[in-house]
Amino acid sequence: MKRVLLVFGTRPEAIKMCPLVKELKSRKNFDTAVCVTGQHHQMLDQVLADFSVIPDYDLSLMRNNQTLFDITASVLQSVKEVLKEAKPDVVLVHGDTSSAFACALACFYMQIPVGHVEAGLRTYDIYSPYPEEFNRRAISIISRYDFAPTERARENLLTEGKENSSIFLTGNTVIDALKTTVRRDYTHPELEWSKGSKLIFVTVHRRENLGNPMRRIFCALRRILEERSDIKVLYPIHLNPLIINTARRELAGCDRVHMTEPLGPLDCHNIMARSYMILTDSGGVQEEASFLGKPTLVLREKSERLEGIESGALRLVGTDESSLCKEMMRLLTDGAAYEAMAHTNNAYGNGCASKIIADVLEKL
Ligand code: UD1
Ligand code: UDP
Repeated sequence: MKRVLLVFGTRPEAIKMCPLVKELKSRKNFDTAVCVTGQHHQMLDQVLADFSVIPDYDLSLMRNNQTLFDITASVLQSVKEVLKEAKPDVVLVHGDTSSAFACALACFYMQIPVGHVEAGLRTYDIYSPYPEEFNRRAISIISRYDFAPTERARENLLTEGKENSSIFLTGNTVIDALKTTVRRDYTHPELEWSKGSKLIFVTVHRRENLGNPMRRIFCALRRILEERSDIKVLYPIHLNPLIINTARRELAGCDRVHMTEPLGPLDCHNIMARSYMILTDSGGVQEEASFLGKPTLVLREKSERLEGIESGALRLVGTDESSLCKEMMRLLTDGAAYEAMAHTNNAYGNGCASKIIADVLEKL
């Protein structure tokens, strides 16, 4: 029986790891345990509740306005005790958060093999996204097994000198999650509110967008709302106080904008699936939008998710106010441009990633 420990701490990691937790727990060859660092608190709990996953260890590390130093140092110290007690044969971390990086580092110090889920994403700009590009590259130095979601991610790892035999092409587990959350008979008060209008779904949270870039995004939204009476905006705000303050200040008084608490993933996925278009700087939302075939403007200068851009559903637009207004207007007025982006695709897999990862782990 293999002892597998999955360690994660933020909303997106949880959404992408819960399907894998469930798959591993369903197999008798694994003794599966879950440790949450609690880098996020409410936003993590929402996901665990929607997927009915109960962690075996909860480090509850989140502090308001925590810094990168806080997260890295506290995860590194605290996870050590869990690793000592759980004695895993392999630890699975996800993606590029500081929880994932610090946990991989702790495993390295204790010489425990690490499996990296969603390995190989790159922009090759260490400051974009910040600090995620560093985190994921650092994890790749440590990881024994790399679960690459796409062929491009696999090639990045090969180019960096990782052994072919340690890389497994899996698809992205976010599609596994999406396949369980999106329902035909779904309703929500925000969807009732937006009936008869084109719903723009917005999420913004990246560190490199804090401050002026975020203000420009909100100004663009204000302008488009003034110019078009047929749109409504749903914006579930990330709980970072810096974001909440900027959003409330810049979008105050816009009656066709609903700023809400973060949605649980079930609500989020179903509302995204019914929106007209999406504006986001999120990684996971880009992958989901691509699978759902939702025209999406990506509020970033660089992306590691080029597959979604190539598939046509995503467009990298940055945060310049005028360009953003122009791109939104294009999708609102030019039917052909909209239709060209509104196609579902399997660039991030078909919902079997967790099964493939579990199969690989079983054979190791
Ligand atoms: C983190 C990850 C980022 C990921 C994002 C997903 C790092 C360095 N960053 O960034 O890669 O894309 O999560 O959302 O790992 N907060 C709450 N409650 C919560 C969650 C957050 O109040 O449930 C507030 C806290 O004040 C916290 C702040 O948000 O200090 C920022 O959280 P943090 O995890 O440090 O950074 P994120 O921007 O969320
Ligand atoms: N999400 C959610 N509720 C929200 C906003 C986003 O459940 O209010 C989900 C979204 O569907 C996606 C994930 O959170 O699966 C993305 O997380 P986030 O944008 O915080 O981080 P990133 O993917 O950029 O690391």
